[in-house]
Amino acid sequence: LAAGTFAFYCKFHPGMRGVLTVAGTGGGVEPERPTFDQPLVVPPTERGADIRLVMKRARVRSLPEGPRTSMWTFDGTYPGPTIRRRGGPGTHVTIVNHLPKGAGATSTHLHGDHHAAKDDGQPTTQLVRHGESRTYDYPLTVDGKATPGSFFWYHDHRMDRTARNNWRGLQGMFIVTDPPMAGLRLPTGSRDVPLMISERSFTAGNQLTDPFAAGPEMVHGSDGHGSMTWTGDHAPPNDATVGDTVLVNGRAAPYLGVSATRYRLRLLNSSPFSSYNLTLSDGRPILQIGTGSGLLPRAVVRSSVLLGPAQRADVIVDFSGSTGRRIVLESVPAAIGTTGADARQTAVMEFRVGAAASDPSRLPSRLPSPALVSPVPKQVSKTWTFGLHDGTHSSGHGGSAWTIDGKSFDPDRVDHRARLGTVERWRFRNTSDVTHYVHIHAEQWRTVLRDGRTPPPWEQGLEDTWRLEPGEVVEVAARFTDYTGPFMIHCHMLDHEDHGMMARFDVVR
Ligand code: C2O
Ligand code: CU
Repeated sequence: LAAGTFAFYCKFHPGMRGVLTVAGTGGGVEPERPTFDQPLVVPPTERGADIRLVMKRARVRSLPEGPRTSMWTFDGTYPGPTIRRRGGPGTHVTIVNHLPKGAGATSTHLHGDHHAAKDDGQPTTQLVRHGESRTYDYPLTVDGKATPGSFFWYHDHRMDRTARNNWRGLQGMFIVTDPPMAGLRLPTGSRDVPLMISERSFTAGNQLTDPFAAGPEMVHGSDGHGSMTWTGDHAPPNDATVGDTVLVNGRAAPYLGVSATRYRLRLLNSSPFSSYNLTLSDGRPILQIGTGSGLLPRAVVRSSVLLGPAQRADVIVDFSGSTGRRIVLESVPAAIGTTGADARQTAVMEFRVGAAASDPSRLPSRLPSPALVSPVPKQVSKTWTFGLHDGTHSSGHGGSAWTIDGKSFDPDRVDHRARLGTVERWRFRNTSDVTHYVHIHAEQWRTVLRDGRTPPPWEQGLEDTWRLEPGEVVEVAARFTDYTGPFMIHCHMLDHEDHGMMARFDVVR
């Protein structure tokens, strides 16, 4: 058995699970730190109004030595190109599916963005087959105003295969810039670094392992070309897609040379399943200025930042006075939670601090954060219950499924209707014994209460993905603007999503 952390689960009882950690040579509790042998790569940037990304197989440098890794990519790189656009109308992204035929149809969702249902990259209705393309219209406006500066990301959202397709590499970042943010004099240029943190496991030949190979890939789904029937019968070959190697912008244990100045780091956890509780090895504070969905009202000093799948944090790290030091960004176990999704001890990347340099950046104490919906309705209009359904499916097979309100996802069933133009207050409850990360499409939300209390300062901006521990209750509010149609709410641990923990709500007139 190689060193690493392995999740195990019962195929028929997804609630029956655990995590096994095997220490590396030396056997100590503290895993050895890698030697950080390769430089961090920042993905190429796309700034145009009409962007074309070809999904294709490519060989990418993941591990420092040996063969490159064959992945499914957006445009030949993993992560795909980082799209940078100013808020306001006129961004079109065309996705062409030139993946190997066996990959089947795909769907690309821009996570965090507000756009029409037809441009949402939904799991069943907007599939792009092999050889075909689709153009997504991203107006980057909310209720007639430019989308505030944000850190979104795009990824495959194909029903039942989202974990597989993301593991294979269909992920990229999307930064919305805005003029007031530019006026802030936050670190820019090469001192504004997007970091996509994810994890994979590799074979001896440097290829991705296939956690999805253990059983029939689709016991209930499609012909691989877009037509689907859903029977609600989940028999997952894999219910916890974890890897033993953490990648940053696609590379294992990279280093980044930095000047002894302030840096803005945009942190994204794009792992299918795992969480990271990020901290700096010398105890240096992390100043969080935003979520992925805009700035916070005030910067928050944090010693660690816990990010579950799809969660983002916009942070400032000050390297001044540290010339010559090597500082490791690492994940440490989080003191909370109970599940295999929880953050473990692992190194992420290294900063090598060079000479001092002039630093025009400034850190205002108050930030121009986007307005939150107000007043918040007193009444909760919808409670979503995240749980595990035990028992026999209508298909007659025994087993369990991850559910919302006791039901597996059915793209043809409307689970809630919200009226366009109104503000709704929603409640999430977790009745299962593991943590979930709840994500909502279409709108950005105000977090109203976490367990009956005012949310912590880092949850006081706009948000689209929340940690929900067993027994926890979170309440959120948003106004439904601009678009009608079907949208999704789901757990962003992709195995849970693929295995039924997703629901549909429709915004209606
Ligand atoms: Cu990041 Cu519905 O997804
Ligand atoms: Cu979950």
